[in-house]
Amino acid sequence: MKKILILFIIIILLLVGGYFLLFQSKHSEEEIVTSSASLEEVSAQLELGKALYYTHCASCHGDNLQGQPKWKTSLDEDGHNYAPPLNGTGHTWHHSEEQLYNIIRYGLKFYNENYEGKMQGNDKLSDEDVWSILAYIKSVWPESIQKKYKTMTKH
Ligand code: HEC
Repeated sequence: MKKILILFIIIILLLVGGYFLLFQSKHSEEEIVTSSASLEEVSAQLELGKALYYTHCASCHGDNLQGQPKWKTSLDEDGHNYAPPLNGTGHTWHHSEEQLYNIIRYGLKFYNENYEGKMQGNDKLSDEDVWSILAYIKSVWPESIQKKYKTMTKH
């Protein structure tokens, strides 16, 4: 009788243990699936941002986000500023994400109603488009600047 009881307890323990193991491994599989899905989402967003950047921005800001050569020292033939680099060597990263969003979406006239320069808005871009371009731009910044940017609470 005692033996049967012990056997019974062992079986229960095995069942509980087995269930627990199964549940755990299922759980971690799910976690892996979710994190790789979000990685895919991130790279899809960067691809979209890159494509949009080349269509809408590269003509001024350059294929490598390097800006126009004389952006610091002179004005173009219309007396406007040249396009600055967006690759982290300029001051782009001193602006908050919200400011960058507004500049890209609405142009610099969002912050200066008398602005007449070349950085006009892009009303045709959707919200998602603008955030994708921004994600792409940030992905090009050196790691040290990306880290600094993340820790900046107020830009
Ligand atoms: C016709 C040329 C032109 C195009 C196209 C253009 N920009 Fe600009 N952009 C400029 C100029 C010029 C400035 C500098 C503003 C000034 O001082 O007049 C600027 C400024 C900026 C700034 C502020 C940078 C800083 O360091 O403060 C951002 C961000 C920016 N542009 C992003 C974009 C993005 C993203 C696109 C594409 C969606 C784009 N620009 C398309 C000319 C352009």
